Amino acid sequence: MALREYLAQALPDQEQFEILHLQNPSKESHPVITPQSSNKSGLITVKNQHFFALFHKEKAIYALEIYVYITLTPEVQDTIAERIVFVSKADTNGYCDCEVSFKKITQQLLRYVLSINPNYYLQKVIPRHREYHKFDKHLITKKTKPTDALRLLAKRQGDVSLMSSINLNVGIYHSFQCQPNIITKICLFTKPSPQYLFAESSKNPKKHQLDGASLLKWWLDILDELIVECFDQNTTANLRIPGEDETVVNRYLRGLKHNGWEAGDLFTKKSNEKHDLAAFRIPLFPDDPKSRFLHQLADEGRILSMYLKAYWAELQERQEFRLSVTVSVIGIQGHQAEEPIYVPNNKHDVFLTSSKKQFNSIKNYITGEAYDTIEGAFEAYLNVKYFLGDRFGRRLIKVEGVAKYRWIKKESIEKRRQDIINTLSVRKKPKK
Ligand SMILES: CC(C)(COP(=O)(O)OP(=O)(O)OC[C@H]1O[C@@H](n2cnc3c(N)ncnc32)[C@H](O)[C@@H]1OP(=O)(O)O)[C@@H](O)C(=O)NCCC(=O)NCCS
Repeated sequence: MALREYLAQALPDQEQFEILHLQNPSKESHPVITPQSSNKSGLITVKNQHFFALFHKEKAIYALEIYVYITLTPEVQDTIAERIVFVSKADTNGYCDCEVSFKKITQQLLRYVLSINPNYYLQKVIPRHREYHKFDKHLITKKTKPTDALRLLAKRQGDVSLMSSINLNVGIYHSFQCQPNIITKICLFTKPSPQYLFAESSKNPKKHQLDGASLLKWWLDILDELIVECFDQNTTANLRIPGEDETVVNRYLRGLKHNGWEAGDLFTKKSNEKHDLAAFRIPLFPDDPKSRFLHQLADEGRILSMYLKAYWAELQERQEFRLSVTVSVIGIQGHQAEEPIYVPNNKHDVFLTSSKKQFNSIKNYITGEAYDTIEGAFEAYLNVKYFLGDRFGRRLIKVEGVAKYRWIKKESIEKRRQDIINTLSVRKKPKK
């Protein structure tokens, strides 16, 4: 199903929205979890990034960033593969003037990402190290000497058919293949922040910011429903709240629909927490507190003496967690109930950028604005719209909502809150 169709089901009936979906080229990357033994160094890890920005009435209103990693173990017959979906950042700015559920929107975008055939990411992968000696000798690369490049250019001018005969398939990109229904893991770190993707948006009094505990429940609701609807029954689901014991964690898990939820995380087993080094069990994700702590341990020379149990205990002591805000690590692992077979269409679903640089420069039209006033939300929309139109002849994807919203309007929630405050507040006698 196309992105537009997934989103329409989360957006209010008859309201018009537009979505920007950026994706960068797949690239071979370091393993997500550093392998301990050299015999695992044959793993191939392919990294990709999705960035979604939603617009309503010519204003940016919401954004979500997701990384997808596919790890292949090629030496095993029938290539074993695993997909990690790392939800990096979700943010709003408070400038949407109709009632929307960002919970539903986030869930639908995740559902869309989960529906993508993993082989889609593996077709054209930029290698970690290019083997220039294998390239067609008529190609000009950064290894070509200037004199040779001039000679090749002159040759191309003299023979116009030369370019079309160049073999672009050797050495420039890798291509891999795996079974579509591979193990999927979803990983995220829930940590509230005044803003992640819309700078200064916390200054907008209309922005609704969830506190740590509410944010955790928000994500649990989203993921619990996804597991029930999209994963098979044997799926494991873990929640760890650094600094809290199992009783507190279990309180959050009570009432969830999937019965595979357990306190803990995907990377630590009770049996190994005292013996396994965190360095070889904890994944390295971009801009993630767990990874930042691993880097700090490496800088301090403690990385090869930090076992998992001590790692989790020390993590909660870090400056960024001392503000008594509830933060958590959520992990899901299992097979999807239906094979993910969707192949996104480069026109209707996604804008596939040619490089990471281009990805970041377009994303920067959204994240580089200041959202303390509504102008930022308008500017972001106009800039990205004109950039895509003028440079690439592309448009934002239009989506009309079809969801029948049944929940109470925000104004009425606010009004109810005011009423409660009014009945409880002490009334002074009016002055005569
Ligand atoms: C996380 C975030 C995107 C969620 O946005 P949101 O607007 O709260 O999300 P939803 O639309 O799903 O609303 C969640 C709940 O708040 C309620 N709500 C939304 N706006 C409200 C408002 N202005 N006043 C009162 N309640 C409101 C909704 O009715 C809903 O209630 P329900 O769960 O009982 O149905 C938002 O809090 C945010 O931008 N936070 C800052 C960045 C951040 O911390 N991101 C987390 C990354 S891990």
